[in-house]
Amino acid sequence: MSFNLLKNKRGIIFGALDENSIAWQVAIKAHEEKGSFILSNTDMALRKGEIFHLAELTNAKVIAADVTSVDDIESLLIESMNELGGKLDFILHSVGMSPNVRKNIHYTELNYDYFHRTLDISAMSLHKVLAVAKKIDALNEYASVVTLSYIGAQRQFSSYSDMSQAKAMLESIVRSFGYHYGRHKKVRVNSISQSPTQTTAGKGVGGFDSFYAYSRCMSPLGNATAEECAEFCMLMFSDYSRKVTMQNIFHDGGFSNMGISDELIGNCFTCSDDCDEK
Ligand SMILES: NC(=O)c1ccc[n+]([C@@H]2O[C@H](COP(=O)([O-])OP(=O)(O)OC[C@H]3O[C@@H](n4cnc5c(N)ncnc54)[C@H](O)[C@@H]3O)[C@@H](O)[C@H]2O)c1
Repeated sequence: MSFNLLKNKRGIIFGALDENSIAWQVAIKAHEEKGSFILSNTDMALRKGEIFHLAELTNAKVIAADVTSVDDIESLLIESMNELGGKLDFILHSVGMSPNVRKNIHYTELNYDYFHRTLDISAMSLHKVLAVAKKIDALNEYASVVTLSYIGAQRQFSSYSDMSQAKAMLESIVRSFGYHYGRHKKVRVNSISQSPTQTTAGKGVGGFDSFYAYSRCMSPLGNATAEECAEFCMLMFSDYSRKVTMQNIFHDGGFSNMGISDELIGNCFTCSDDCDEK
């Protein structure tokens, strides 16, 4: 079903790697809603090749950019405006990566070069995209910039590691830049805090299956899928959310307001034999 929510809107979608990616589903929905957009990812992701299939499905052009490079971002934004025929109305920043998580390094022994890289790729990159867009005036009034976060920004999830700090920084950039860009040109900046989702980045986090099952047990509506997240992004890119900015919005089936659920008590966990509390 399409409501033409993005008709006459132009955008950039960062982060579609394969069909499990949240950004992939966002591109499919944005195309259905009649938006026109550029797909962007790293050279390495482009070499994997699947993004070109998405480009065919959505009639989009693919432009490589590393989100840690201000020069790449500037070229991407200029080329996107030329290609699409004007300033942009929406950006999806769906990018995250922790070398520490990837290499299974324990949180108490983080490699600090990797930690810098986690923060640069997963958080500071949003600042860079917004700063370049503002500098070259790439966004129309009421344009909507959406990034993806996780509740590990607020609460401790033992294997989420330095991604917790990255998401906390990301959500803080949403508020700070959202203020400045809102005052400057009514541009909106929000993060969506999504349920655990079966993607390459998601499954890279240790114990992902337990995160997923626990979250499903705790959420009255169940985990939100990538496709449901994409539908929510359409609302956030549309004019129907034009006064929403500087927010971190939980799209998690109710998980974030739960303490304990009947499902968790009944089904999921029991005390192990060596538990001190037994
Ligand atoms: N999967 C989950 O459980 C979940 C839950 C909440 C939030 N998120 C967030 O959603 C976003 C998208 O992740 P996903 O789950 O779709 O996984 P994904 O692995 O499909 O997407 C991550 C993307 O980041 C891209 N990327 C990494 N380094 C980059 C760089 N330097 N420059 C440009 N792109 C780069 C990757 O190529 C990939 O396309 C991430 O921010 C992730 O933290 C995911």
